[in-house]
Amino acid sequence: MKTLVAYFSATGTTARAAKTLASKLGCDVYEIKPAVPYTDADLNWMDKQSRSTLEMKDKTSRPAIIKDELDLSAYDRILLGYPVWWYTAPTIINTFLETYDFSGKEIVLWATSGGSGLGRAKIDLKASTDASVVDGMILNSDRQIDTFVQEIK
Ligand SMILES: Cc1cc2nc3c(=O)[nH]c(=O)nc-3n(C[C@H](O)[C@H](O)[C@H](O)COP(=O)(O)O)c2cc1C
Repeated sequence: MKTLVAYFSATGTTARAAKTLASKLGCDVYEIKPAVPYTDADLNWMDKQSRSTLEMKDKTSRPAIIKDELDLSAYDRILLGYPVWWYTAPTIINTFLETYDFSGKEIVLWATSGGSGLGRAKIDLKASTDASVVDGMILNSDRQIDTFVQEIK
C-alpha cells in the first residue's frame, strides 16, 4: 500500500509531526499551503472577529490554498494531518479535499492539538469527499507517532 502524509500547519507543530511520521514510514510528505498565510492575529481564538474564528464559524468557508500539480494517482492511502481548531479540522482541509481527486483513496485523519481529540472532524470532512475517511490519532508526542506507525503499518 502506497501512503502519502499530507498536512496543514499554521505554527509548525503539525509540520514537525508530519515530517517525523513520514520519515518513520519512509513515505512522501506534502504540505497544504494557504494562499494567504495565517498571522498570529488571524489565529487568536479569543478574538470573535479574527480570521480563524470567522472561518470556523462558517462551515462553508473555504480558505484558498496554493494549487500544485499534486498527483494522487500513485497513492492508496492519505494520512491527513492538521491542528485541531474548535474541536474539528480547519476548513482549509475541506478546501484541500475539494481541490484534488481522492476517489478510491482511504483518508486517515490525524492531528495535533492543545489536548482535545479528533472531535467531529470526520463528519465535517466527509461533506467534502466521497472517499473513505477514518479517524487515526492525535499525534502530540513521539510516542503517539510510534503507536500510530505500528497501527497503520
Ligand atoms: C484557532 C485555533 C483553535 C484551536 N482550537 C483548539 C481546540 O479546539 N482544541 C485543542 O486541543 N487545541 C486547539 N487549538 C490548539 C492547536 O490545535 C495546537 O496548538 C496545534 O498543535 C497547532 O498546530 P500547528 O502549529 O501545526 O498550527 C487551537 C488553535 C487555534 C489557533
